Amino acid sequence: MPENFVVTPWEVTGDIDYERLIEMFGTQKIDSKIISKFVEHTGELHTMLRRGIFYSHRDMDKIFQDVESGAGFVMYTGRGPSGHTHLGHLMPWLFTKYLQDKFGIELYFQMTDDEKFMFNQNLTMEDTRKYAYENALDIIALGFDPEKTHIFLDTEYSNQLYKIAIKVAKKVTFNTTKAVFGFNNSTNIGSIWFTSMQAAPAFLPSVLRGRNIRCVIPCAIDQDPHFRVARDIAEGIGFYKPALLHCKMLPSLAGSDKMSASLPNTSIFTIDKPKDIKKKIGNAFTGGCVSVEEQKVKGGNPDICSVYQYLYYIFEENDAKLEDRKTKCRSGELLCGYCKQYLTEKVVTFIEAHQVRREQAREILEKFMLRDCQGEEK
Ligand code: TRP
Repeated sequence: MPENFVVTPWEVTGDIDYERLIEMFGTQKIDSKIISKFVEHTGELHTMLRRGIFYSHRDMDKIFQDVESGAGFVMYTGRGPSGHTHLGHLMPWLFTKYLQDKFGIELYFQMTDDEKFMFNQNLTMEDTRKYAYENALDIIALGFDPEKTHIFLDTEYSNQLYKIAIKVAKKVTFNTTKAVFGFNNSTNIGSIWFTSMQAAPAFLPSVLRGRNIRCVIPCAIDQDPHFRVARDIAEGIGFYKPALLHCKMLPSLAGSDKMSASLPNTSIFTIDKPKDIKKKIGNAFTGGCVSVEEQKVKGGNPDICSVYQYLYYIFEENDAKLEDRKTKCRSGELLCGYCKQYLTEKVVTFIEAHQVRREQAREILEKFMLRDCQGEEK
């Protein structure tokens, strides 16, 4: 039976069946065993694990073994700088920051300005570079540890990355990239090569240390195809297979699908003004009825409501409050206007504080940047 959704690193559309994706991609569900390891090592259960937002993984059992043996691990994640940062991007980064705090580990953060240049006809290299530095401010604003967080642009940190990427590229065939990414003979050769650039940072920490260290990649599940390829070739070039922690994608304010930066009115950007946020949430798709009268009688449907999803994914940490909202929505007691107002206040408070930290980040940006000369010395 054909799926009625598409999830690739470059296209996310339709009504995503996340359980089905686990089967299609061949990943593992984050089960009670993995959950209890998180609890054992952090002393708590993070909301994103409890709610199944981070819900799939590869090799997390091995990561915990390396924690327990003292071998340790590092993290790697990334951003394709095709525009400004929106809340959908921040979501996995919030969890990544939490993991850094809890495990005290290093994070390598890749900015794939090359990717966005090669895949997008409308972006120049100046654009993608500019967005990479803009996006870096958002990362820093989340409070990552400057001593332990290393951000780099593919086009700038190329000395170190290129040497790893060519080792990867030598092992990946055109057939593989066609099968995994759906490329064909008309695809530009930069795009075909690109997966070796996204794989490289998974091995970079081992190269910089001169010894192998396991790496976990927290990311939205649409990025998994790259790492499936990376895992297949990892041992063949002398490294551990990268482990993964996959999350679901924050829906857009228009309903299902990944929050897309190409539809600016259905995403909330970190640079948005309070009045924009208010307007966007005001126009959001909800599970409400056409008229207030009808909704009071029939109730709303939180399962399809984007406002509810935003509260669920990020803005309402309190489970009891969330449950209460759901019940009152279904019974018709709670109307969409109230939920929209509640979410608007939460988002505006968050974004205003974020914007202050984002401005301060300009001063300390260089502390976070991994530069080729520095990499060579390590
Ligand atoms: N390709 C990703 C994007 O378009 C960016 C990226 C690079 C990434 N490396 C990563 C994302 C590692 C998650 C994990 O957004």
